[in-house]
Amino acid sequence: MTQRALGQRTSVGNDQPDLLAYNKFLNGLIVQLENKLQEALKTNSRIGEELFAKNKELQHIFSINSKLVSATPTGDMYALVARIGRSLMDGDVCVLRLLDHETRALHIVANRYSKDNVLKDFPTIKLGDGISGKVAQEKRVISVYDVDKNGLVKHDALVRLIRKRGVRSILAVPIVFRGKTLGVISVYSRTPCHFSPDKVKVLSVFASHIALSLQEAAHYREIHMTYFNTMRTLVLALETRDPYTHGHTERVTKYALDVGYTLGLEPDEVDTLRYAAEMHDIGKVSIPDFVLLKPDKLTSVERSIIQLHPVKGAQILAPLEFMRTVTPIVRHHHERFDGKGYPDGLEGEQIPLLARILACADSFDAMTSERPYRGYKLTPEQALAEIKKHAGTQFDPEIARQFIKIAKAYRYR
Ligand SMILES: [Fe+2]
Repeated sequence: MTQRALGQRTSVGNDQPDLLAYNKFLNGLIVQLENKLQEALKTNSRIGEELFAKNKELQHIFSINSKLVSATPTGDMYALVARIGRSLMDGDVCVLRLLDHETRALHIVANRYSKDNVLKDFPTIKLGDGISGKVAQEKRVISVYDVDKNGLVKHDALVRLIRKRGVRSILAVPIVFRGKTLGVISVYSRTPCHFSPDKVKVLSVFASHIALSLQEAAHYREIHMTYFNTMRTLVLALETRDPYTHGHTERVTKYALDVGYTLGLEPDEVDTLRYAAEMHDIGKVSIPDFVLLKPDKLTSVERSIIQLHPVKGAQILAPLEFMRTVTPIVRHHHERFDGKGYPDGLEGEQIPLLARILACADSFDAMTSERPYRGYKLTPEQALAEIKKHAGTQFDPEIARQFIKIAKAYRYR
């Protein structure tokens, strides 16, 4: 492939600046520009306007850091990158691809087709294939003035797809962290465009920023998982303390997720439901053995002690930012649809949807398990009959209906 066929190329170093140095660098540029801007405005209004636009551009990039870092390190962050990339470069389409190092494929995780639209059904691309594949493999920028005259395009299904919608020029930049390719950000333009060195620099700086944010997000995820696994161990230890609840958490999680998938919950909601189901009884760590393990019927005082566990559980999770959405589900998993549950006596749709799902899954497992104070367990059919009987009073009627259908189909227990 000739240099001409690939269009303009610019090498990008592998070393990424650290966040502080990078922000310092940008800040320095902004100060310099502001000074020049003042001078230029006095002498030449055209240059002044150009500098003014450039200054805006840099300030835009400078402000991105806080937005990216505060975004959820998944879909929200990726969508934000595509949106900012498109407006930053004044392009028609911006696509963010991330590299799966195991399959060596680039997956599109976000794209912005127009101000408010995204492309759907986009293809993945192998490392080394097409324009993005080359950019990722060789860690260098590729800029294409005219897609019709570029040989790489025939291996790039996405480019062929958007070519039909009038795209002519492409600028693709690798996202690299410490020599490792994380992905590619590409901007596509309908107007034929020789991307200037300044434009290339702006997108490259943006890519450095994305690399840092992706690393930071991965780091947070690791920390979250470490915390979560510690708490999971605590929950399992709880089950060991109370042999009657052995396997309870695992089964409740399965039942709740089956309902969640059937109801078509969003991936983020499914995650919240999973964590809430795994953590729902974590508050029982604070319940003394003589109450939790009592083989006889509980007194009203003892019952009120047990009933503290959703609040205790929420208190344990509350300081953890990444459990922000999980905490209310844990707090409300013993509310009843008719408002007669605890701890807050919420009713109907005041109770978070995920807590209503969890309540159904939790009750089914409790009814079909042996409990020290009861001495017997219900058969699945008897437990489902109870759920049907209490639909609309204890349980959300729609969730109860779905639960019964799913439990029968999957032959729970
Ligand atoms: Fe509970």
